[in-house]
Amino acid sequence: MTQYAPRAVVTAGTGGIGLETALGLARRGWDLTLVGRDQDRGGAAVARVDEAAGRRAGRFVSADLSSLAETRRLGERLAGEGGLALLVNNVGGMWTERRESPEGVEMSIALNHLSPYVLTGTLTDALAEAAPSRIVNVTSSAVAAAQGVFDAAEPPGPHYGLAATGRAKLAHLAHTLELAGRLRPRGISVFAADPGAAATDNAAQMTVDILPPALRPHWEEIKKGVSAPVAAAAAGPLAAATDPAMEGRTGLVIGSGGTVDETLLAFVSPELTEAVRVWTAELLAKAGHGS
Ligand SMILES: NC(=O)c1ccc[n+]([C@@H]2O[C@H](COP(=O)([O-])OP(=O)(O)OC[C@H]3O[C@@H](n4cnc5c(N)ncnc54)[C@H](OP(=O)(O)O)[C@@H]3O)[C@@H](O)[C@H]2O)c1
Repeated sequence: MTQYAPRAVVTAGTGGIGLETALGLARRGWDLTLVGRDQDRGGAAVARVDEAAGRRAGRFVSADLSSLAETRRLGERLAGEGGLALLVNNVGGMWTERRESPEGVEMSIALNHLSPYVLTGTLTDALAEAAPSRIVNVTSSAVAAAQGVFDAAEPPGPHYGLAATGRAKLAHLAHTLELAGRLRPRGISVFAADPGAAATDNAAQMTVDILPPALRPHWEEIKKGVSAPVAAAAAGPLAAATDPAMEGRTGLVIGSGGTVDETLLAFVSPELTEAVRVWTAELLAKAGHGS
C-alpha cells in the first residue's frame, strides 16, 4: 500500500521563521505548501525544502495574506484538496510606521490576526478530515507590550509598532485559546508558539520608533535579541507542530525553547476573549468579510 506523507501548510513559509519551520517539517517527512507573495523566493524555498526532505516535498502557492479576499480564496482552494494534517499560521509582522491592508485595516491587525483567523476558518473542515490534526499560531512576546483594550479598531494616540503588533497578537492568542476548546471535539489541537526574537527580514526593518517612549532606553537590548539566528526560532513552532508529547493536548502556548510556557496566558481573560470576539466580528464586517 502507498504511504502518503502528511500535508502541512505554512504561511509566510518562503523566508524567515516560516521557512526554517518548513525545513524542519520536511526533514520529519511532511509534504509542504509554502505560502508567500514572491515567486522567485517561493521557488528558492521549495528547492531548499526538497533538498531537506531528500525528495519532492514542497510546493509554492502565491497569495498576499494581508488581503482578506486573497486569504479566503487561498483557503477555499486548499480546502478543495482534501484533508490537511497541519496548518502553521506563521504570517505576521511589525512595522515602524502605520500601514493599511488592501481592505483598509491597520496592517498589524490584518496580518497577525484577521488573515490567520479567516484562513483557519476556511480550512477547519479539511483539518477535521485529517484528524488528529494541529493548528499552530505563531505568537510573540510583544503581547506583553499590548494594551488589552478592544473597544475601537485601534487605540487612540500615536502608533507604536511594538504595541500595535502586541495587541494584534494578543487578540489572536485569545482567539487561539477559545478555538482550542471549540475544535477539541473535532480532533484538532490548537497551539500558540512563540519563536522568540530572530534576525529575519521583518526584524531588520525595525527602528527605535517601534517602541513607546517609555521603552526606548531598552532599544539596544531589544536590538540584540533580534540578531539571534533564525533557525533556532523554529524550535517552538516545530515542537507545537510535531512533538508527540503534545498529542491529545490543546490550548497550550509553546515557548521558544519548545516546551509549554504559561507566561503569555496571564494576558488573557474571559472578558478580554469576549471583547476580542466582538471586535473581530466588527472588523471583518467593516472589511466586507462578515459571516
Ligand atoms: N523575527 C522575530 O524576532 C519574531 C519574534 C516574535 C514573533 N515573530 C513572529 O514570527 C512570524 C514570522 O516572522 P518573521 O520575522 O520570520 O517574518 P518575515 O521576515 O517578514 O518573514 C518573511 C516571510 O513572510 C512572507 N510574507 C510577508 N508578508 C506577506 C504577505 N503579506 N503575504 C504573504 N506572505 C508574506 C514573505 O514572503 P514574500 O517574500 O513573498 O513577501 C516571507 O516568506 C510572524 O508571525 C512574527 O510576528 C517574529
